[in-house]
Amino acid sequence: MLVSAILPFLSIFLLMAASDPVEDAILQCLSLHSDPSYPISSVTYFPNTTSYIPILQSYIRNLRFTSPTTPKPLFIVSPTHISHIQASIICCKSFQLQIRIRSGGHDYDGLSYVSRSPFAIMDMFMMRSVEVNLEDETVWVDSGSTIGELYHAIAERSKVYGFPAGVCHSVGVGGHFSGGGYGNMMRKFGLSVDHVLDAVIVDAEGRVLDRKKMGEDLFWGIRGGGGASFGVIVSWKIKLVPVPEVVTVFRVQKTLEQGATDVVHRWQYVAGNIHDGLFIRVVLSAVKRKGQKTIRAKFNALFLGNAQDLVRVMSDSFPELGLVGEDCIEMSWIDSVLFWDNFPVGTSVDVLLQRHDTPEKFLKKKSDYVQQPISKTGFEGVWSKMMELEKPVLTLNPYGGRMGEISEMEVPFPHRAGNLYKIQYSVNWKEEGEDVGNRYLDLIRRLYDYMTPYVSKSPRSSYLNYRDVDIGVNGPGNATYEDARVWGEKYFKKNFDRLVEVKTKVDPSNFFRYEQSIPSLAAAFSLGIMSE
Ligand SMILES: Cc1cc2nc3c(=O)[nH]c(=O)nc-3n(C[C@H](O)[C@H](O)[C@H](O)COP(=O)(O)OP(=O)(O)OC[C@H]3O[C@@H](n4cnc5c(N)ncnc54)[C@H](O)[C@@H]3O)c2cc1C
Ligand SMILES: *[C@@H]1O[C@H](CO)[C@@H](O)[C@H](O)[C@H]1NC(C)=O
Ligand SMILES: *[C@@H]1O[C@H](CO)[C@@H](O)[C@H](O)[C@H]1NC(C)=O
Repeated sequence: MLVSAILPFLSIFLLMAASDPVEDAILQCLSLHSDPSYPISSVTYFPNTTSYIPILQSYIRNLRFTSPTTPKPLFIVSPTHISHIQASIICCKSFQLQIRIRSGGHDYDGLSYVSRSPFAIMDMFMMRSVEVNLEDETVWVDSGSTIGELYHAIAERSKVYGFPAGVCHSVGVGGHFSGGGYGNMMRKFGLSVDHVLDAVIVDAEGRVLDRKKMGEDLFWGIRGGGGASFGVIVSWKIKLVPVPEVVTVFRVQKTLEQGATDVVHRWQYVAGNIHDGLFIRVVLSAVKRKGQKTIRAKFNALFLGNAQDLVRVMSDSFPELGLVGEDCIEMSWIDSVLFWDNFPVGTSVDVLLQRHDTPEKFLKKKSDYVQQPISKTGFEGVWSKMMELEKPVLTLNPYGGRMGEISEMEVPFPHRAGNLYKIQYSVNWKEEGEDVGNRYLDLIRRLYDYMTPYVSKSPRSSYLNYRDVDIGVNGPGNATYEDARVWGEKYFKKNFDRLVEVKTKVDPSNFFRYEQSIPSLAAAFSLGIMSE
């Protein structure tokens, strides 16, 4: 009795007191390679420290990866100085540890903090300065900032500037920008990466490089090719975009009984061709109304202009939705950010500074591109499937406008002209357990399979920031070109080849690797192939 009561405490005590020789050697290495005026030991967390678990968990945004069996890092470094990043790279390399780089932690499949090989986490959340310069309309923003912090800093300085990036304020700049970054100003301005002017990265040798030093190939690669294949991106210089003092938003919904099929069908022809300043998203879900299953289509819009002009644009181009003046709300751009992020009208802008707001869920997401309108009969089939599966939700995001004008090769993100809209599939749940989880994963995969005839083919494209390991992953060891091409062409189409060239040049030994990292030909042809 007594022994079993004391044992756990005893072992915790032993664990705390023990100093592991390997860990000590790592800590020594880290100290040796970093600036002594910023002691790295104070931002390095081994499992024996009380902060290890809270820090590890604070940026896990998907409960699927908080289970006791989820692999955990040997240690976490949360750099406050660039030399901490350099030292971590050098020491992880010499101790043969992989590194997982985490900014906001929103990677849908947890690739920023889980690895099957021994690893450390570089957690960027302490590096989050945002310096707005209105003179030249630029901002230097650190990767560890959230896009909410970026929006807040811009709005604090000016009402007539904004930035085209995502909708959920807690998304991290580091992952978001390095994967493309889109939001409700995409049709007017394109992606976040279309407005990146410079960046600072620490490469596999621990060198600190800006755009000039890294060269145009690597600078191209990190604007949508995924940062973590190339290095640790510390900060980004972006160009602000002009926004009007008054913008207008609306939310209108239709069920099948209210004609949703016709309106959604029509939306496909309109949303990508309408006024560039108008973005109308559709969220489709199976719901119950008076005991009957139906489909609800929610139309959420941002218009970069006033309500009167919006009503005119809508009655000219999309009368089927039946928008009237009372549906429209005029507000500042920053308030529209809150509105889109589902905060009630009137909420203080300061909520954008909260890094942890919504209760975390178990989730899985997938993505597709639609290039030909789906017929009404096609949609009727989709509705039946959704009502059968119940849980998965589809979000349709229109393309066109500026997106159609930028070349597919401008940055690694290739989904430009020719796409009518992007679909995001989502399923969220609250119940614990692997069986339950697998059931939900099965639902979203079945809906994705069902959509095959309606979406892009050869390759069936996906959006990198909607990370999806179902489309393929690298095996253990150094992936070959052929292995990685399976998923790589889905995210990057023809740009995959150039990404492989850049990777082979800047990280030939493939230090920065993970399940969906760009392969280095140099590494694939060395030990990798022979040792498999
Ligand atoms: C609620 C929610 C809403 C979203 N809304 C949108 C949206 O509107 N538009 C959109 O485009 N996307 C959206 N996303 C997707 C989001 O853009 C991606 O998940 C993005 O990668 C998250 O970045 P992060 O820094 O938070 O993630 P992390 O999990 O920290 O990182 C994601 C990937 O980037 C790498 N990485 C992170 N930081 C760095 C760095 N400093 N240097 C090098 N590599 C790095 C990681 O290793 C990992 O591979 C949303 C996601 C969520 C959860
Ligand atoms: C935790 O482990 C490290 C590395 O082994 C050691 O240096 C440190 O003293 C330990 N900390 C505590 C609180 O025991
Ligand atoms: C990957 O390639 C590098 C560089 O050629 C090599 O040092 C390393 O051992 C390889 N790793 C594996 C697991 O084959």
